[in-house]
This record gives sequence, structure tokens and C-alpha cells, in this order.
Amino acid sequence: MKKFLSVFFSLLCVATLGLVGCSKDKPECPLDNLSNPTNRLVAYFSLTSHTGELADEIADELDADIFRIVPATAYPTDYNQVKVIAEQEKAENKHIDLLPKPLSLTKYSYLFIGYPIWFNDVPMAVKSFIEDNKEQIESQNMIIIPFCTSGESQIEQSVRTLRLVLDSNIFLTGLQIKDSDVTKSKTEKRVESWLTGLGI
Ligand SMILES: Cc1cc2nc3c(=O)[nH]c(=O)nc-3n(C[C@H](O)[C@H](O)[C@H](O)COP(=O)(O)O)c2cc1C
Repeated sequence: MKKFLSVFFSLLCVATLGLVGCSKDKPECPLDNLSNPTNRLVAYFSLTSHTGELADEIADELDADIFRIVPATAYPTDYNQVKVIAEQEKAENKHIDLLPKPLSLTKYSYLFIGYPIWFNDVPMAVKSFIEDNKEQIESQNMIIIPFCTSGESQIEQSVRTLRLVLDSNIFLTGLQIKDSDVTKSKTEKRVESWLTGLGI
């Protein structure tokens, strides 16, 4: 069924290229190339593994490449200490140095970006990752698809923050999953129905 929907949406996209201004050189159409798994990257930050598990599930489902965002300075293991540091980073709008890992975005049209919600927002490490790669993400008109895990906060504020950095990119509907719901069976179902809803 998913394969059928994928092909259907791809055909729909091709059929509407003229109307929405998509082209192969400028992939502005969110539905363009959906059946091509090699053009999707799942990049994520995760401190205590919930978002990592969700990212793995999304990458498996899409057969996509996966990239872990790792701050150069590791956070402490104590939750309260992490809270103090993270709150200060947010207050200072601090740019976080990330471990330099080779990453070329050239072959990707879709960026799935995942993170835990921190203080109702995106962690500064993720904002920094986006800032570090902003030029490439923008010049390639990448489609941004956010996902997150959290205790209870919804995804909206974090998406607003990302949109401020990438104000010319198209964003598709994000996914939020409660941390206590990150189990294989629950995430599998949520991810499947989310991707189907996106036409992927
Ligand atoms: C510093 C910090 C701030 C957090 N702030 C929030 C918050 O504002 N709202 C919320 O629902 N959960 C918050 N959480 C909980 C995490 O979003 C949640 O447990 C998430 O699933 C952790 O993902 P991870 O295991 O991938 O790190 C916070 C956790 C930490 C460590």
C-alpha cells in the first residue's frame, strides 16, 4: 500500500510540475522524487536515546542514510546538571561546537531533523547543526521534515525556531512522540502513519 501511495504521489508531482514550478535542478516540489531513498538524510541529536530510537525507525522505514549530531563537549550524565547547562546555552543563544564528522549534503533533497525538546524548543546543538549547514541546505532547497521526542511539549515552538534559521526552505508536517511511548511497536505504527500522511 505504501509503495502504491509513493508511486501515486510521485506521479501526481510530475503531473503538477508546471503548476508548482518544480524542476530537477530546483527541487521545490515536496512530492518530487519521493520514491528515491538515496535522496533522504535522517540527522538527529539524542542525549538519552529516545530520539535515537525514533531516528533509527524512520531511517529503517525509509531506507535512508542516518547521521548523529554529537556536541564536541559531552553533556554530564546527571540530568540536573544537563538542565543547568542547557538552560544557559539557550539563554545565551550559544553556538555549540559539534564533533567534526564528514558530511556532504549534496545528494540529499530531504532532511529529516530529529531532537529531544529542551525547554519547549530545539536544543542549541541542533540549531547549531542547521546553522553550520545552512548554506548547503538553502542552496539545494532541501525539504525539512522535523521530528522530536519530549515529555509532553509539542513540536510547534521548535519548528518556529528552525524556520527562523531556514526561512526560505519548505517544511513538511513534523512528528512528536512522547518519551514514554518510544517503544518499538508504538513508534513503528506512528512513523508508518506519519510517513504515509506525508506521501512518503
Ligand atoms: C535539558 C532538558 C530539557 C527538557 N525540556 C523539556 C521540555 O521543555 N518539555 C518536555 O516535554 N520535555 C523536556 N525534556 C524531556 C525530553 O525532551 C525527553 O525526555 C526526550 O525524549 C529525551 O530525548 P533523548 O532521549 O533523545 O535525549 C527535557 C529534557 C532535558 C534533558
